[in-house]
Amino acid sequence: MLLELALYLTMSAPLRHRLLGHVRESVSLLARSRRCRAAWEPHKRRARAAIIAAFADLPRRRTAIVLGSGLLDDVPLRELAAAFDRVRLVDTVHPWTARLETRRYPQVDHVTADISGTRLLLGGGEDMITDADLTGICSGPDVDFVVSANLLSQLPILPIDWFEARGRPVPLHLGRRIVETHLCALARLPARVCLITDTLEREDDRAGRETDRLDLMHGAVLPIPDALWDWELAPFGEAGRDRRILHRVAAFRDWGSAFRTLTPGAPVPSS
Ligand SMILES: C[S@@+](CC[C@H](N)C(=O)[O-])C[C@H]1O[C@@H](n2cnc3c(N)ncnc32)[C@H](O)[C@@H]1O
Repeated sequence: MLLELALYLTMSAPLRHRLLGHVRESVSLLARSRRCRAAWEPHKRRARAAIIAAFADLPRRRTAIVLGSGLLDDVPLRELAAAFDRVRLVDTVHPWTARLETRRYPQVDHVTADISGTRLLLGGGEDMITDADLTGICSGPDVDFVVSANLLSQLPILPIDWFEARGRPVPLHLGRRIVETHLCALARLPARVCLITDTLEREDDRAGRETDRLDLMHGAVLPIPDALWDWELAPFGEAGRDRRILHRVAAFRDWGSAFRTLTPGAPVPSS
């Protein structure tokens, strides 16, 4: 608890991100990642392998951008730094543990930005989601590779909380609109895009019975992924003595191509 408080106070982030809760979320992610290190390892390995496979055949390797780089748990930083001239890490908060790790790679830099698209919505009250921030960061002429790294399911959480905390009605389909804006913006980028996202949360009891489930895509439709796996986010004892939480993770090595196979209204192939 004391360590978490110290991390909270020492993490540097813009005031807006702190007020919205991004620093708090980042500290709790860091603490959970440490507590659940063993349980998370298979997920981290698979995510890193999916990212490496996604750029393996790229002929040009100038700039790579990682959206939601966070703790760098699921980011193959060494391989990206070896393969690309420049690696740009994007997050609302770059924990100092991650900054420390990047110090040995001079070609790696950090961008601190909120790419949920809700800047106008939470700022001026306009009911509008925009992809301007994501597009601005990712569409430079030398960007050859973009990774959305276990970020998408997180994007709606704090904007929805923002309305709920103020007792204001959450705008209609806000979660789905944020998710779809991210998916469409990624699909329009000229670079190769690797998308890794958790899509579904499941709660199991000790008998292996499913006791709850939650669609982390808020109803948005995804095409068939290149890989699917379970991430044991909270093993027994973490969120409750007799329950554990699993996230189903989908990986797309070339999101632009996968997106174009989508048939409107098709079921989400994540459950
Ligand atoms: C589940 S973590 C992803 C894990 C991360 N790839 C890693 O390896 O540690 C989600 C990340 O998304 C970031 N994030 C959440 N909302 C964001 C937003 N609106 N804009 C940019 N990053 C955001 C969080 O700060 C967090 O680092």
